[in-house]
Amino acid sequence: MKNGYELTTTIGKLALQNAVMPASGTFGYAIEYAPFIDLNSLGAIVVKCITLKPRMGSYPHRLAEVPSGTVSTIGLQNVGVDRFIEEKMPYLRQLKPPIIVNIGGQTVEEFAEVASRLDRVEGVGALEVNVSCPNVKKGGMHFGTDPDATYQVIKAIRQETDLTVITKLTPNVTDITEFAKAAVSAGTDALSLINAPLAMAIDIETRKPKLGKNITGGLTGPALKPIGVRMVWQVAKAVRVPIIGIGGITCAEDALEYVIAGASAVQIGTYNLIDPTSLVKTIEGIKAYMVRKKITHFKNLVKSLEL
Ligand SMILES: Cc1cc2nc3c(=O)[nH]c(=O)nc-3n(C[C@H](O)[C@H](O)[C@H](O)COP(=O)(O)O)c2cc1C
Repeated sequence: MKNGYELTTTIGKLALQNAVMPASGTFGYAIEYAPFIDLNSLGAIVVKCITLKPRMGSYPHRLAEVPSGTVSTIGLQNVGVDRFIEEKMPYLRQLKPPIIVNIGGQTVEEFAEVASRLDRVEGVGALEVNVSCPNVKKGGMHFGTDPDATYQVIKAIRQETDLTVITKLTPNVTDITEFAKAAVSAGTDALSLINAPLAMAIDIETRKPKLGKNITGGLTGPALKPIGVRMVWQVAKAVRVPIIGIGGITCAEDALEYVIAGASAVQIGTYNLIDPTSLVKTIEGIKAYMVRKKITHFKNLVKSLEL
């Protein structure tokens, strides 16, 4: 409770001091942002996607700017789970906010193995499961675009760990509520949405894709917000687990749209690259809004849309 205003929120077993955290892949392993903000002021810390083996990621070009956002393909570049535990966790575990590890894999078994290796690692607070990975056994189709594959992967992870499991949903589907329900029935504790819709940008002078060999990538940044807010609102009506709202958040006003639509917490991604202090400003802005509206408990703002 800060000056009579309660900013805390709950995601599964995690009790957060406030609802604001970075989105995976835009915040490195947190230490990169230590010169700019007090990491201990954040609600939680979400790190880059971790896979079983290290990954070099996509060929350049990896990122192109588009109006109100970016199109990017990083290709899950990361150090692999063992080096993550050995090299990155010692720094991360001495921070105050819970550490949420975003995980990926190309088979159900790989997801389960990463979850099992992280299960008893001191300081790991939760797993955020990135189902936007190509399923090699199904010819590259994404886990997150087949409700049965989403179910299988979350069920396998659930069997490996009692950590809070957050399923991160992709917007590249017709009815996102179907995927939310599949994840909940497999035992997810919470959902986070949205990941990046598939997009493309072309350089008309060379007539080549701006992302080079990769051709397509994910659209992220402010352009995403209305889609994310709509999907959070739909999912909040369909399931009862807590939701983390993601997509295009730049400030407290953006975050509050997600919260009113049904999100118990929010993540800021691309905007960290523009203003590394945006997370802290968003926490302050939510508090100022609560004071102005005389709403003493953040929880009373969640899913408070007036129709
Ligand atoms: C450079 C970059 C890397 C990303 N890497 C990951 C990742 O490793 N795992 C993941 O689940 N999402 C990843 N994302 C998606 C973001 O976490 C987030 O869902 C998306 O960018 C939408 O939020 P935003 O509009 O605030 O950026 C990445 C996004 C960007 C821009």
